[in-house]
Amino acid sequence: MLIRFKKNYEKIAMGLLSFMPTEKDLKKLQATVKEYDANENWQLYLWKEDDDVLGIIGTTKKEDGVIHIQHICVTPSHRHAGIGRKMVHELRAMMPGVTVCGNEQTASFYEKCKADTISL
Ligand SMILES: CC(C)(COP(=O)(O)OP(=O)(O)OC[C@H]1O[C@@H](n2cnc3c(N)ncnc32)[C@H](O)[C@@H]1OP(=O)(O)O)[C@@H](O)C(=O)NCCC(=O)NCCS
Repeated sequence: MLIRFKKNYEKIAMGLLSFMPTEKDLKKLQATVKEYDANENWQLYLWKEDDDVLGIIGTTKKEDGVIHIQHICVTPSHRHAGIGRKMVHELRAMMPGVTVCGNEQTASFYEKCKADTISL
């Protein structure tokens, strides 16, 4: 299930976000996590199964109300098991009627998820 980011998950969030090609630089990564913590238009969610945090998805709300998925990562040992898709589907279910889209990095995966016909 998706849970809202809390400060006590900061280290695990940084570890997951560092898999994004845009978050390889430590200073950039720290600034990103700070923004998620401080900016109400930036929202970060963790994917938790039992006691394990296995994925992360982060969004930003633009002035037109559109939600952009700017980060999505799954821990390498649990990839190709549908977690990325489940995060996208659960995020969209949390925001009925809201337009959600990907950004330059996430759009191809997001479009793939949107095209899913499988039920999760
Ligand atoms: C992208 C990512 C979140 C997918 O998570 P996942 O849990 O493995 O995803 P799922 O199991 O739900 O789906 C896997 C499918 O997505 C595809 N996929 C992975 N990355 C993709 C991408 N960037 N664009 C399009 N499809 C992608 C896989 O090829 C696979 O396809 P298949 O089902 O036809 O074999 C994960 O690979 C990851 O953390 N990557 C590193 C972080 C990253 O680069 N994020 C930005 C790119 S979205």
